[in-house]
Amino acid sequence: MPPEDPQALLQRGAARHAAGDVAAAERLYRQVLKRRPDEPNAHNLLGVLARQRGDAAGALRHTERALAIAPEEPVFLANRGAALAEAGRLAEAVPALRAALARRPGDAVALRNLGQALCALGDAAAALAPLEGAAALLPAAPEPLLALAHARREAGDAAGAAQAAKAALDRAAAAPVLAGQARFLLAALGAAPAPDRAPAAYVRDLFDQFAPRFEAELTGRLDYRTPALLAALLADAGVAAARRLRALDLGCGTGLSGAALAPFARRLEGLDLSPRMLAEARRRGIYDALHESDLLDWLPGRAAAFDLVAAADVLNYLGDLGPALAAIAGALAPGGVAAFSVEAGVGAPFALGEAMRYRHDPAHVAALAEAAGLAVAARQAVVLRQEKGAPVAGALFVLRPRG
Ligand SMILES: C[S@@+](CC[C@H](N)C(=O)[O-])C[C@H]1O[C@@H](n2cnc3c(N)ncnc32)[C@H](O)[C@@H]1O
Repeated sequence: MPPEDPQALLQRGAARHAAGDVAAAERLYRQVLKRRPDEPNAHNLLGVLARQRGDAAGALRHTERALAIAPEEPVFLANRGAALAEAGRLAEAVPALRAALARRPGDAVALRNLGQALCALGDAAAALAPLEGAAALLPAAPEPLLALAHARREAGDAAGAAQAAKAALDRAAAAPVLAGQARFLLAALGAAPAPDRAPAAYVRDLFDQFAPRFEAELTGRLDYRTPALLAALLADAGVAAARRLRALDLGCGTGLSGAALAPFARRLEGLDLSPRMLAEARRRGIYDALHESDLLDWLPGRAAAFDLVAAADVLNYLGDLGPALAAIAGALAPGGVAAFSVEAGVGAPFALGEAMRYRHDPAHVAALAEAAGLAVAARQAVVLRQEKGAPVAGALFVLRPRG
């Protein structure tokens, strides 16, 4: 039998790809390149596959090979922009996406990627036009409307944000995760009741997208200080930095908090919802074990397993802290200690802010801790970080099981 024509192989690969059989698609794209090494579509589609697997570096490599062969192809330019955004290289993603759109103005995905990149760069006003364009091109799709709602919220247009979030919700009947995110955004805008917690899928997506930029932004522009402040309060409360404790870093993120906890820990475990944050934490090399889970699901199986349980800038994704405090109390060994931060609110036990995080009244947190069998060993009012140039007020707690 004569060898299959590369074009036919490419089409078969694209069909397998569309059907979700990524292993077969990859095999077929690679066969194309064996027969025709400069087939740009095969390089480009391998880039798309790599991006779907979360391999942003691989996606860029393949897409750049495609562009080296066909530098003007708008689809390849758009995919390079998407891969740059995925890798957290937003300032480079923006011109790449603009170059793609100059050649193909009706590319709704490139418009949405451009809007989201501009919004993440802090220019929500510039994000509005591309996101409105994307929403107009795909009037039945919830994704561009949800992105538009976020950009309008960032730009200070709460009413417009609520209108776009409601429109996204109306179109999300077949997409429960997007519907949950639209409802949560509506709650943060005051247009729906606040749920007990942020949806886990929302938190996972948020931090998966943020992971490649998290540390640079938090320690730079946002002047994030919570891990160091929490470690200092632990020391003030008499916890020795003697590398003796079995420590658990809840919502460990990329490991900024783990680095501050390490001097206390004989064994350090981390837990997080976001696989990309965990991948960054793994690279840091300071954790003995890392777990991908929701803290409320994971903690109940670890009775009395830790001497120190910490959560830096994590409990602000939960509204009702009762279940989390009870679960933390259950995971502490006798003589153990818990340490965490909350964003400080006044009056209501918890309130969901427009920034889509919860604030907690410290007096109510102390009462919930008591109810969970934890006594307050130390407490401190602090500035956790900056947000849009303003300080974020917080409270730190160190708690011990009651005697
Ligand atoms: C702002 S980051 C803080 C990361 C780290 N603790 C630090 O101080 O740099 C919040 C982290 O908490 C994680 N997170 C939020 N809610 C969570 C939950 N219910 N279970 C597990 N992880 C959660 C997020 O995925 C994110 O990585």
